[in-house]
Amino acid sequence: MARRKPTAWLVAAENGAIPGGKVGGVGDVIRDLPLALARAGWKVRVVVPSYGAFHRAPGAKLCERISGRFRGQDFEAAAWTLPGAPKDVEQVVIDHSLLCPAQPGEIYHIDSEGHPYETDANKFSLFCAVVAAWLEQVKTPPRVVHLHDWHTGLLPFLRGVAPARGKLARVRMVLTIHNLAYQGVRPLSGHAASLVSWFPEHAGAAAMALDPADPHLVNFMAAAIRGADAIATVSPTYAKEILRPNDPASGFHGGEGLQGLLTERDGEGCLSGILNGCEYPDTDAAAPAWPAMVDAVLDGPGLLDRLPALRPRLNRLREARPKHVLTSIGRIVGQKVSLLLEHVPGHTTALDAILEQLGEDGVFLLLGSGEPELEDALRAVSQRRDNFLFLRGYAESLSEMLYQSGDLFIMPSSFEPCGISQMLAMRAGQPCLVHAVGGLADTVEDGVSGFVFEGPTPAAQARALVEGVARALALRSEDPGAWEAMCQAAAARRFSWDLAAERTIETLYAR
Ligand code: GLC
Repeated sequence: MARRKPTAWLVAAENGAIPGGKVGGVGDVIRDLPLALARAGWKVRVVVPSYGAFHRAPGAKLCERISGRFRGQDFEAAAWTLPGAPKDVEQVVIDHSLLCPAQPGEIYHIDSEGHPYETDANKFSLFCAVVAAWLEQVKTPPRVVHLHDWHTGLLPFLRGVAPARGKLARVRMVLTIHNLAYQGVRPLSGHAASLVSWFPEHAGAAAMALDPADPHLVNFMAAAIRGADAIATVSPTYAKEILRPNDPASGFHGGEGLQGLLTERDGEGCLSGILNGCEYPDTDAAAPAWPAMVDAVLDGPGLLDRLPALRPRLNRLREARPKHVLTSIGRIVGQKVSLLLEHVPGHTTALDAILEQLGEDGVFLLLGSGEPELEDALRAVSQRRDNFLFLRGYAESLSEMLYQSGDLFIMPSSFEPCGISQMLAMRAGQPCLVHAVGGLADTVEDGVSGFVFEGPTPAAQARALVEGVARALALRSEDPGAWEAMCQAAAARRFSWDLAAERTIETLYAR
């Protein structure tokens, strides 16, 4: 008889394999990593909430009814299997009315100011309770449960309070940290969205879930870091950065308050950095002709709704491709864009300084959506600068075109656990200009496959970013041979999911 394949459950908030199941990079990882694990001989079950929507997909099948306790009452939830998954991968979504407190399909909720994480912590604490109950009742528990970010952080806590002889208490749980900036912090008690309200019977074990700085708070991420059997973060450099405290004066983002806990776990040999990968299709997609690319922007789903004034500019742009096309794609959040909006001497922002350099020879296309104030700031630049187009929105097809048509991809993140866009731009042969942090430092080699900038303060970093653009444009204009070699070096780099899966199995899954 053939040996049974080992099984892993990947538990997360996002799954890019499900239409509408992705918001950020976590969704990409949860889409791609299971395929690589399956190629390496594992059977993978991916479990995410249905958010009142995903289980309604045609062909979804009820696979398990799960009962447990939440808020001191019995609950019943349902696990649904979605059709179309590849061999050895099962896509499961959990349905319960409390997992859909707002709009169906809404993954993350933005609570009003002063109520951080309220809605989502209610959702994800129940989600953890459902997965925990399932692990207790399932016939054959998986070899390993692989958690992702704070949303799944209460699972090790629930394992810690489970009956010692049960299945849940004995299952291996490992954690991947995708972004420490989001930790899921809530009151310990005295509020409907607090640990004691969710799990009154486990109030006595709260120490496992407390915030290291404040015993009146619970912290999902801290609970996961404390309780996981092994921890990885998504690049080797970020794994080192998170052992140091943040330092606002130098713009450094590190452990975000959890550096002490992380240093302890690192001392036990439990923390590693495993770089994410990206998929490399067999056939190279040819870059689209320039007018087709501009047409995609013009026709993009709702992209121009809020800025109809861009239309005439795009029509003009369609006629002739500028000499330099800068591109950038990402969520519009401080992490990704604050350096662009940092003041530099002689200019309103670093972005303005870049645009001035570009002049009539170039254009900068930035695609993404996110926080309203930052979007407004970018829209304002777009209004005062003809050569900057802020395309508010996101469309996978358009982003692929930008990767293929741009000359230089800008990724000035203040911190970046791994970063995926730079890998996708490189895959398309577009060199990147990146800040020397986290996964960006691990994927781009200055002067070889792209450009890397750094500085001791945010102001200095912003200046270095502007100089980086100057350096890149000069090379591109003055030494086309060297530029072509750089494009080829970028395209030749391989960030392999098979390698990432192998390391995940060796360092996280193996006992
Ligand atoms: C988070 C991080 C990003 C990383 C992604 C996938 O979104 O901010 O750097 O690439 O997770 O791990």
